[in-house]
Amino acid sequence: MSTALSDPAGFINDNTVIAQATLVPEISLHLATEITPIWQASEVYLEQIGIEPPFWAFAWPGSQLIARFILDNPDLVQGRRVLDVACGCGLAAIAAALSGASVVQANDIDFMALEATSLNARLNNVAVTPLPGDLIGTIPDCDLLVIGDVCYNEAMAARIIPWLLECSKICEVWLCDPGRHYAPSMPLEVLIRQSVFVTQELESVEQRATTLFRLRDISAPD
Ligand SMILES: C[S@@+](CC[C@H](N)C(=O)[O-])C[C@H]1O[C@@H](n2cnc3c(N)ncnc32)[C@H](O)[C@@H]1O
Repeated sequence: MSTALSDPAGFINDNTVIAQATLVPEISLHLATEITPIWQASEVYLEQIGIEPPFWAFAWPGSQLIARFILDNPDLVQGRRVLDVACGCGLAAIAAALSGASVVQANDIDFMALEATSLNARLNNVAVTPLPGDLIGTIPDCDLLVIGDVCYNEAMAARIIPWLLECSKICEVWLCDPGRHYAPSMPLEVLIRQSVFVTQELESVEQRATTLFRLRDISAPD
């Protein structure tokens, strides 16, 4: 069996199947269907060199609803430069590429997420440029920044939300949250809200009420 370090693409192929997220049947992804083997495989690897858990092996409700909204409203991304931050499996980025975005970049701090995103983009015959590293605090080079399901960790949300509000002065920013504990508490524009089926083993529930928000620069005149 491949290891993530020596052969990331082989590791992903060995530990996933090609499947579709419930809300986005148009897009095929390398996904973990039985949670235990992939988490166990990754925990062994994680012990060896300390990588992140395999977030990239699941289509979280955040990216599912962003992707659904983009595919149903392609005019909102057509001809625009889209950046998917914390892309995981890259589902939102792939939806943007399929819907006519001029350039699509996908960012994650986990190199395995970028590898999975590249494999998934290839599976759907679209071009998505991987952008490694931590972009928080930098000035985004895009027209639309999308970010899904990042408010599950207090320290992470405390860094990301103020940065996204700053970014909203420069580009459009969409944040999709499935009711995580550290979601923004200020009132935000709701683009769409709906229930998304989730992996019971991961979430301990069958569905999560998920909301796609548009962040707005409140210093700008109406
Ligand atoms: C729960 S997953 C969500 C993935 C994807 N957005 C989705 O909704 O399916 C969270 C992702 O955030 C990434 N992440 C965490 N901190 C990050 C940071 N500072 N910059 C970029 N990605 C980050 C993780 O590596 C992981 O892929």
